[in-house]
Amino acid sequence: MPQFVPALKDSDLEEGSMRPLDIGGEHLLMSKIEGVVSAVSGTCTHEETDLGLGFVLEERVVCPLHLSQFDLRTGEVMNPPATEPLRRFNVKIEGGTIFVEV
Ligand code: FES
Repeated sequence: MPQFVPALKDSDLEEGSMRPLDIGGEHLLMSKIEGVVSAVSGTCTHEETDLGLGFVLEERVVCPLHLSQFDLRTGEVMNPPATEPLRRFNVKIEGGTIFVEV
């Protein structure tokens, strides 16, 4: 059953950045876009490439292999060849710590 587990300090996640994180058996991408912390799957839905090796473009992560882009806040896929969104995980911040539900 999913539960919130501590992931990292809020202060360790810079505005406009993403950070790969392996937690609870999941490979995630944590991000902070316009002050909002989000967590999505860190594996591309096209050919399972590690999106942690990609880069941030505004509010999106760009896959390093075939350049599909995903919205870091929602997981929505923005362009082919990927067609499936990234799974999104619930997050909360308490006492300066980011928790993610895995
Ligand atoms: S593996 Fe990511 S777009 Fe192909």
